[in-house]
Amino acid sequence: MSIMERIILGIESSCDDTSIAIVNSNLNVVVMETVSQISVHTLFGGVVPEIAARNHIAYIFPLLDRIMKSSNIKPKDIDAIAVTRRPGLIGSLLVGVMAAKGLSLGWNIPLIGVNHLDGHIASAFLNRKKSPDKPYLSLIVSGGHTSIVEVTEDGQRTISQTLDDAAGEAYDKVSKMAGLGYPGGPVIDKLAQKGDPDKYDLPYLLKGGKHTNATFFSYSGIKSAMKRVLDNEKNIVLEDLMATFQIRVVELIERRLESAISKGKYSALVVSGGVSANSQVRKVATALADKHDLELYLPELKYCQDNGAMIAASAFERLEQSDFDSLDFAVNPTVRPGK
Ligand code: KG4
Ligand code: ZN
Repeated sequence: MSIMERIILGIESSCDDTSIAIVNSNLNVVVMETVSQISVHTLFGGVVPEIAARNHIAYIFPLLDRIMKSSNIKPKDIDAIAVTRRPGLIGSLLVGVMAAKGLSLGWNIPLIGVNHLDGHIASAFLNRKKSPDKPYLSLIVSGGHTSIVEVTEDGQRTISQTLDDAAGEAYDKVSKMAGLGYPGGPVIDKLAQKGDPDKYDLPYLLKGGKHTNATFFSYSGIKSAMKRVLDNEKNIVLEDLMATFQIRVVELIERRLESAISKGKYSALVVSGGVSANSQVRKVATALADKHDLELYLPELKYCQDNGAMIAASAFERLEQSDFDSLDFAVNPTVRPGK
């Protein structure tokens, strides 16, 4: 480690992944450990908040021990502790935040409470040589969010967000309806890649008519359309049906991105969140960046899902400004802009 290099310990526990990482100021991941709770929540078809919070309590300190031992980094080497403070499940958030506060107090290390969405954006900068120049356009697509945000030197402006379900939530709900389990994204993506998207007739989302100039997302319509097909049609070829579903979901993302790109002047397109692992999302983002001559930032697959490295990475600007939080900061389950 060079003398000037600074490191942040990042803690993520806002939903069902317990994850801790150490990241250096070049945004290289020094070490990361994640415990996924999918195998537990899959039994219930979705995340059960109380179970998630209890598991975070069980995992968080053994995980920290492993990180500290395997990296051989001492608490005195750590420049700040970053932790997700919003948005998320309240019990889950509390576990990470209380652990971070305890460590901050015990080790005498400054504390930075971060917005999970800023973390997702930073996930695309991990292990890259540089971060994008501002202004850039950011698409966050996950189980909780579908939004397009303009990031400038002055802050962030939301251009598009969903009125109802997030894209990942639509995958998860459709998967549950089709008996494919939780989480739905990876399994539907796999089926879709083997299917023919022209075999089923599903409507384009928010296209034409009163929606011509709309900027928002909405995925409740496609969910109902999928329910109708699944309930009424016989001998369904899931590969073909999911191929059409995936094309429709991602086509709306593509249309909204194209419109946002045409209205501004951006250096880069940054795509992140659990659904940024999707094969069609990655294909569309790559084509759009190419067409509009934008630098493309897509996270490595292992940083698409919730993780501690992205939380640490998102805190470096605040470390540089010594913009720390006091020990009495609150968790907040809702989405609100800011820190
Ligand atoms: O970012 P994330 O780990 O958690 C949230 O903050 O929501 O995202 C999880 C979401 C789930 O809804 C999951 O089904 C979806 O990301 N997902 C995918 C894929 N992999 C994960 N959705 C579509 N295609 C995928 N390959
Ligand atoms: Zn997330």
